[in-house]
Amino acid sequence: MTEIDTSKPHPARMYDWYLGGKDNYPVDEAMGQQMLALDPRVPVMARVNRAFMHRATRWLAKNGVRQFLDIGTGIPTEPNLHQIAQVVAADARIVYCDNDPIVLAHAAALLRGTEEGVTEYLQADVRDPDAIIEGAKQVLDFGRPVALSLVALLHFVPDEDGAHELVRRLLSELPSGSYLVMTHASADFTPEESKAATEKLKAAGVTLALRSREEFTRFFDGLELVEPGVEVPHRWHPELGEPVPGQDDGVIPGYGAVARKP
Ligand SMILES: C[S@@+](CC[C@H](N)C(=O)[O-])C[C@H]1O[C@@H](n2cnc3c(N)ncnc32)[C@H](O)[C@@H]1O
Repeated sequence: MTEIDTSKPHPARMYDWYLGGKDNYPVDEAMGQQMLALDPRVPVMARVNRAFMHRATRWLAKNGVRQFLDIGTGIPTEPNLHQIAQVVAADARIVYCDNDPIVLAHAAALLRGTEEGVTEYLQADVRDPDAIIEGAKQVLDFGRPVALSLVALLHFVPDEDGAHELVRRLLSELPSGSYLVMTHASADFTPEESKAATEKLKAAGVTLALRSREEFTRFFDGLELVEPGVEVPHRWHPELGEPVPGQDDGVIPGYGAVARKP
């Protein structure tokens, strides 16, 4: 296993700190505090993002999806995706994937699902879609619809690494009736704070590739957006989950959407 590097902050561990988890290090907390100094609502944003994942997963399972490929899973935080999907459909099959060794270290928590369903964990990088497809095919039937969930992931993948092409490649393997689920941070709402955050993270070795509404929407080219389309995450099917305290106290600087492959 690759060693856990505690000399610089990592997105998975900073996110865990925002969510009040314990699987983070002083270096993650220090950078998290710098992000809070720029915008004290960062922990609310993390919860709003997590709650979007819950509602989108619930919506998909209720609409018949039984297979999920979740890339950029993060450190386990209950309820995890499988715990939402398998409440609706006990036989749901889930493949989780992340490239951070700390997620692998805690992956056991992702593997405790229903007897009827399956959960599996792949240690892989989204920039290596072929490895992910090969691994996922051991567990999922790519002849049947799969929900590809890339939640709060692609703002860590710059255009130089081919973010849009990676999504095309992954979707090209999935049959009609599959879905793409995404959230993504954007500088559209708070440009100055976003620029400062990007610079601070860059200095600490973390790439943040914020994208505009138009750049985000381009990930869904050729797909059918589920109503209400591209939205700020907490306004996407709010009836499917509890509101996050503080979500209406200002803008959530990002977008979320779900779309079907025709
Ligand atoms: C902000 S967390 C989001 C976790 C979860 N998807 C959620 O929304 O609650 C981003 C996750 O993406 C992972 N990640 C970042 N770059 C990645 C890459 N190139 N390949 C795979 N995972 C990556 C990080 O390790 C982290 O766990």
